[in-house]
Amino acid sequence: MQLWRRHLEYVVILGMLLTGGYALVSGLLADLFGFPRFFLHPWAGYACALLVLIHLALNRRRIARYIRLRPLSREKPTPPLAPGQPARLGRRDFLIGALSGLAGFLIGFLLPSSRRPVAGEDLGQQYHRWSKPGGSGLDALRIDWGPRPAPLKAYPQAPRTVLPAPEWSGPPIGNIIAARRSRREYISGTLALEELSVLLYAAQGITEPRWGFRAAPSAGALYPIETYVVVHSVVGLEMGLYHYVVADHALEQIRPGDLRAELVRAGIGQDMLRTAQVCFILTAIFGRTRWRYRERAYRYILLEAGHIGQNLYLAATGLGLGTCAVGAFLDDAVNRLLGIDGEEETALYLFPVGRIGG
Ligand SMILES: Cc1cc2nc3c(=O)[nH]c(=O)nc-3n(C[C@H](O)[C@H](O)[C@H](O)COP(=O)(O)O)c2cc1C
Repeated sequence: MQLWRRHLEYVVILGMLLTGGYALVSGLLADLFGFPRFFLHPWAGYACALLVLIHLALNRRRIARYIRLRPLSREKPTPPLAPGQPARLGRRDFLIGALSGLAGFLIGFLLPSSRRPVAGEDLGQQYHRWSKPGGSGLDALRIDWGPRPAPLKAYPQAPRTVLPAPEWSGPPIGNIIAARRSRREYISGTLALEELSVLLYAAQGITEPRWGFRAAPSAGALYPIETYVVVHSVVGLEMGLYHYVVADHALEQIRPGDLRAELVRAGIGQDMLRTAQVCFILTAIFGRTRWRYRERAYRYILLEAGHIGQNLYLAATGLGLGTCAVGAFLDDAVNRLLGIDGEEETALYLFPVGRIGG
């Protein structure tokens, strides 16, 4: 029984040292180098606390004896130890223990943390710093990403229009880049379905059918951006809201009707949203990219919207049309117009496209 108890004590002490050391080192490393989720860290903490309790319970007699034998003052002679009785901790041991505890606390408190907010930073700066790559990438393989969100969105009940194959015979790219400007004045008229087809192809069309790669780059080829078109005046299409079916180069009509007034209200009164023949709305389904890139996802998604936006600018310019990036809009109102929740999927960017004079 005694032998068994002594073995258990050693096992408990060893376990305490290992789990305590692991929790301490990994906690410090996590804070210093920005490992946000050290896989076993919380469990090491619980295990250590449990082992400490077991250790105290196993040694309760020694502790009680020590407390009873503690000298009250320097002058008072301490009673001699009985054979086999454990040695008591002296004042020096206490002082050293307390000082090292204090030093550990101060080191942990004063060391700069890569994720602690810095005074004067706005949320964007905080996010940018927070999403710098840390060791979190190292343990990514051990983290359950959950089921992968659907890579494509579809409205199975919606009426479909298959678009004509995109035919491109515009000016050289150098001329298009030089001519690109944000155009906010559009003349009345209609857009041909062929023109809309080229614009959609430039935005999100599949350019490499074997792998499904698209016109604009996407981190990990995860394609979080969805494209909607509010149609005001296109030959062969009813007015209304359409969703671009990337895989089939088609449009599905998800809402019929004249949405110009609603769109202008959602766009904080910017009249170009009414006068344009169509308005592209780019949304993001965050889960598609977050699933793999976690805290980097938001950066990638916004960058990708920018790539698509520039393709739209260049395609519109090449077709002799005008467009203008619109970032100023009421998110909730645009999300309502699209019928999306604003959480899993939300509107990011608007591009009215219209005919321009001269
Ligand atoms: C992210 C972003 C958001 C923008 N939002 C708006 C907007 O809401 N309304 C607008 O009239 N122009 C908007 N613009 C267009 C800029 O005003 C325009 O790009 C800038 O004046 C430079 O002109 P340029 O595009 O002709 O070179 C936006 C541009 C960017 C890149």
